[in-house]
Amino acid sequence: MADHIQKELSEERMLDLCEGTILATVFLEPSTRTRLSFQFAMKKIGGSVIDFGPAEATSLAKGESFEDTLKMVDSYDPDVIAVRSKANGSAQLAADICESPVINAGDGSNEHPTQAMLDLYTIRQIRGKIDGVKIGLMGDLAHSRTTSSLSMALDKYNGVKIFYIAPEELQARRETLGSMRNATYQRLDDLQEVIEELDFLYVTRVQRERFNDPGDYERLKGSYVLDRASLLSHKKIPYILHPLPRVDELSPDVDALPAAKYFEQARNGVYVRAALLAQVVSDDPLV
Ligand code: CP
Repeated sequence: MADHIQKELSEERMLDLCEGTILATVFLEPSTRTRLSFQFAMKKIGGSVIDFGPAEATSLAKGESFEDTLKMVDSYDPDVIAVRSKANGSAQLAADICESPVINAGDGSNEHPTQAMLDLYTIRQIRGKIDGVKIGLMGDLAHSRTTSSLSMALDKYNGVKIFYIAPEELQARRETLGSMRNATYQRLDDLQEVIEELDFLYVTRVQRERFNDPGDYERLKGSYVLDRASLLSHKKIPYILHPLPRVDELSPDVDALPAAKYFEQARNGVYVRAALLAQVVSDDPLV
């Protein structure tokens, strides 16, 4: 359906899949791509958007609880609510409270399922299929909701091999690895060992906001830096993905390489989220 929407939007500026419906976006943690791509997606398929705005401009700043806040948003009867919060489990809590459907737009370090959907969509668009893909997930895997959700999504396909590339302190969480049923995986700390085997390298930033001790962040933030020269020293360069935002781990001089796909990946968020919104709000089982 995302393919269909992408094609239609290349021919027409607006579609009417969600005409007469309202998306409420409640983002209590910073976001550029997820918030804006949900909002652009809804507008492009004919719906409306009400944005909750920055938390400091709402009654959260007076001490109102997350639960009461979501109850109020839900009481205005949106067709769907997209929620981002820094607390793990907050999207599930919102879904338990609200009558309207809730989409998890990222809850702390826990999950980012719509990012995983657009990551899969991008891999399929580039490679034609997801089965059999060899992918390296590199960076701050311990705090990363994107690599956790992507791992679980990739595990639904056949013959997938995942290389978790990080120093021990930033390695993939035990619960992520424990949930893998189909995919094979390997943990390592040196990208050079596997880079020429990879179809894709998915880079993530070291997430300062998730560290309890700022000293640990300072010590670990430079663990990996991917730049053009190091990539060009290899016989085979994998496609480079990144959920963005980037900080220092991915040099801007990589952007001009044909293998750099992260801005296309972010753009695909509009089509994937539009498809998801249309399915969530539609009464038509064919949508
Ligand atoms: N990838 C992602 O979630 O980006 P934002 O934090 O900018 O939404």
